[in-house]
Amino acid sequence: MKQQRASGRIMDISLVKRVLSYTHPYAIRFRTTILLTVLLALISPVRPWLIQYTIDHFIMTPDVSNLLLFCVIMFVILLLETLLQYYQTYLSGWLGQTVIRDIRSRLFKHLLNFRLAYFDNTPIGTLVTRVVNDIETIADIFSEGLLSILGDLMKLVVVLGVMFYIDWKLSIVSLIPLPFLILATWVFKNGIRKTFLQVRNEVANLNAFTQEHITGMNIVQAFNRENTEMNRFRQINQRHRKAHIRSVWYYSIFFPVVEILSAISIALLVLWGTRDMIYSLSPTASPGRIIEFILYVYMLYRPMRQLADRFNTLQMGIVSAERVFRLIDTVDSIPDTGHVHATYIKGNIQFENISFSYTGKTREIDNLSLYIEQGKKLAIVGATGSGKTTLISLLTRMYECNEGRILIDGTDIRDFPLQELQQHIGVVLQDVFLFSDTISNNIRLFNPEITQKQIERASRIVGAHDFIMQLPGGYDYNVRERGVMLSSGQRQLISFIRALVYNPNILVLDEATSSIDTESEQLIQQATARITEGRTSIIIAHRLSTIQHADTIVVMEKGKIVEQGTHDELIRLNGIYKRMSDLQFSR
Ligand SMILES: Nc1ncnc2c1ncn2[C@@H]1O[C@H](COP(=O)(O)OP(=O)(O)O)[C@@H](O)[C@H]1O
Ligand SMILES: [Mg+2]
Repeated sequence: MKQQRASGRIMDISLVKRVLSYTHPYAIRFRTTILLTVLLALISPVRPWLIQYTIDHFIMTPDVSNLLLFCVIMFVILLLETLLQYYQTYLSGWLGQTVIRDIRSRLFKHLLNFRLAYFDNTPIGTLVTRVVNDIETIADIFSEGLLSILGDLMKLVVVLGVMFYIDWKLSIVSLIPLPFLILATWVFKNGIRKTFLQVRNEVANLNAFTQEHITGMNIVQAFNRENTEMNRFRQINQRHRKAHIRSVWYYSIFFPVVEILSAISIALLVLWGTRDMIYSLSPTASPGRIIEFILYVYMLYRPMRQLADRFNTLQMGIVSAERVFRLIDTVDSIPDTGHVHATYIKGNIQFENISFSYTGKTREIDNLSLYIEQGKKLAIVGATGSGKTTLISLLTRMYECNEGRILIDGTDIRDFPLQELQQHIGVVLQDVFLFSDTISNNIRLFNPEITQKQIERASRIVGAHDFIMQLPGGYDYNVRERGVMLSSGQRQLISFIRALVYNPNILVLDEATSSIDTESEQLIQQATARITEGRTSIIIAHRLSTIQHADTIVVMEKGKIVEQGTHDELIRLNGIYKRMSDLQFSR
């Protein structure tokens, strides 16, 4: 439905203007391209006219020296046209690619600032399609759409003008099939547009489906869904094929129709011309003229055939532009209006009656209050889904509290600039995400201000320097997609270093020890002890052994704190913590 509306008949001029506004930095090249397009149109009737002149004057009454001269002139003009064409094609392609590079960067930068909640509600595949395919289509506005249409239309006007100026009767005769051509073009244009839209919908579906299933491959396999999912994929794939074939069908009908019509034009032209030459007392036609007009007819039909296609390309580009701009215009970032500069943070953290819901239906954090004194270690335990990770996301403002507030050193965290806040809180997450890049870049996360020295200092503190140096290339070792080349313990250590290079005064470890082998566990525990020292630390852990010495332990359940105290106090309380402890230590 939406797509139908987006591709409405009326071409949205403001959208075209907006796309064109991206050429402003390249105004000279843009104008040059237009100038070249116009020149090409103006020059196009010259060669057919020269051919006519040559035939009628130097061939019908032989004149070899002039014939040679005119051949040279024609050759020079041909060279000129080729040269102009070369620059025109190159420049329009260059413009298109440059503009989409700029739009794409703009879009991606914009996406990076969206609040996480946006991504919870938008399929990844759709966003990938926007950033990759849709933007690609915008490039066609330049290389195949707008400029070519301008060129084609100008050529049409110039050629028609020249034809009528030279011989209006012959022109009219040769243009008799024109109304049929316009009709055919119109039918074709509409048909092909519909199938193009279908094709693109199916491409988007394919993208989204594939993305989702590769990302969730573990679930597909774990639940033995391979066959069902394969069938669904087959259906989408099949629809994609059908839509494509339908568009091919339109072409396979339309092109021959145009061929036939142009042949009729030429036949009429030749018949009329010959009759005129033979029977007329003062014939306007001549052999040269007939050949000249045949060339003109070709010059008319070729752009006509392409115009339908190009209008579609343009329209597609504009539909894409509309979608991309809609995304660029979507403001869904966490408001970053804080003005209190967090040059130094002591690390007193206070959660004040906070509540939060992801969806607005359930309460993942339910009126929770908690105080952590600077430099102390707080441990959070609780069943999966009790809201531990959510609490951390609220502290780093990945998500915003619905009610209540969080204070650091007495200042509402919303009053800090977002980036400064996040730099003061080092987070080691449950799932370590590594980019397909070197170890250094994965630690630095593309922040050029972090020096190699800082990285090595941090990794020595963590105790990872030795293992990294043993990798081929050391810190330049490429970890490949999602860090598949490293063990889970090693990945975890890298995320420790990541958190530590900023030397944050607040440190959060989210189940940092839950998924590693026993060998790495000791390494991680030592690292944990070292990096939490002197920092306000929040440690979320499954293994109670890691948190026994925490200054405070809180037990969470359904977004609430249900128990709170030191290890000994909680054991004495004989509640949930005691039961968890008994279970784990008896094993
Ligand atoms: N992005 C999300 N969108 C909607 N619900 C979520 C999202 N992330 C987590 N939840 C839900 O919030 C609850 C708390 O999750 P979480 O904080 O991750 O728990 P824990 O870290 O204690 O295992 C769970 O019920 C979970 O399903
Ligand atoms: Mg969690």
